[in-house]
Amino acid sequence: MKKTILITGGAGFIGSHVVRLFVNKYPDCHIINLDALTYAGNLENLTDLDQSPNYTFVKADIRDAEVIDALFEKYPITGVCHLAAESHVDRSIAEPMAFITTNIIGTVNLLNAARKAWTGNFEGKRFYHISTDEVYGSLGSEGFFVETTSYDPRSPYSASKASSDHLVRAYHHTYGLPIVITNCSNNYGPNQFPEKLIPLAINNIKYMKPIPVYGKGENIRDWLYVVDHARAIDMVFHDGKIGETYNIGGFNEWTNISLIHTLCEIMDRKMNRAPGTSASLITYVKDRAGHDLRYAIDATKIQRELGWEPSLQFAEGLEKTVEWYLDNEEWMTRITTGKYQEYYEGQYVKR
Ligand code: NAD
Ligand code: TYD
Repeated sequence: MKKTILITGGAGFIGSHVVRLFVNKYPDCHIINLDALTYAGNLENLTDLDQSPNYTFVKADIRDAEVIDALFEKYPITGVCHLAAESHVDRSIAEPMAFITTNIIGTVNLLNAARKAWTGNFEGKRFYHISTDEVYGSLGSEGFFVETTSYDPRSPYSASKASSDHLVRAYHHTYGLPIVITNCSNNYGPNQFPEKLIPLAINNIKYMKPIPVYGKGENIRDWLYVVDHARAIDMVFHDGKIGETYNIGGFNEWTNISLIHTLCEIMDRKMNRAPGTSASLITYVKDRAGHDLRYAIDATKIQRELGWEPSLQFAEGLEKTVEWYLDNEEWMTRITTGKYQEYYEGQYVKR
């Protein structure tokens, strides 16, 4: 094998798309997927890779420094794509501590392990930290986040991600660790845990349950198809300049309420329901505490320097996404019943 690449959080939503891309695209690289399989980790996202000779799954927690050090001793890891994190804002408001331990301490454990393993030879090494546009805070109706926008995180989730970004940069400036960081906007697509807006809305509409809209539904997010994010991660991992930050976004801003209306129209069509049936489920609920008004990314740097741009228009991406959730009813049922958590035992422990 030419290289050994450690991907953390590979059983999650975005991580699973990155693992699949790397395993299939780089058959001469050993891809190690390290994941603690929290509630958000679902190995059933990757059943198609079970027999791939260049793929290894390791169940481990990035909060455990000894385990992470041992992994770097066991394998000749040359690159890290770090996606493991607690990722849901509402959970961070309810229970912030897991965000502090995983997103901050877990990231430092990885930085320390890479630093120890690579000291004296940073040649050909790369520590890639995947982050969010939420570190920049909240925009008014105008303007965009650029790579030099000051950090202004406002939820425990975004504050923990901001801390980890600062620490990754600090390891570059202090120890010379070869790092690269990206900050991406909201992702959507197959395999997203149905606590996030789009899969939650699709599932609720399907079963004629209320669609909860926080506040007035006027908050704005920039949406990117997850496969396009995975493509960007591949480009930055291989060609991004050491020490640099790249913003990734879909050039695709929507208020929550117009996004939900669009989803409702698609669902009416797909479910053969009378127009307006799904929209009747829209239910305004209490707003999220400290709800950021608007996120909008200026992704021209990655476009200009690495030639990346989104491949899918939103209309096409949403259509594909709805189809995926409707076609993968068992995936959704196993998530909503908790059954998916048994997969690891059956596949990796009993064998
Ligand atoms: P996710 O919640 O779907 O997946 C996170 C994965 O990390 C899960 O598989 C989980 O088991 C694993 N994990 C959590 N704690 C762990 C720990 N202590 N040790 C090892 N593994 C652990 O998240 P996602 O939406 O796929 O996001 C992945 C990354 O991308 C995160 O770092 C997130 O901040 C970032 N990001 C997400 C979005 C988005 O819209 N989802 C946008 C920009 C950036
Ligand atoms: P979410 O998918 O949780 O992503 P983030 O908070 O990281 O942007 O939420 C997207 C937007 O949708 C956000 O403005 C909150 C809103 N939202 C709802 O209105 N209802 C819901 O049930 C959820 C989960 C989110």
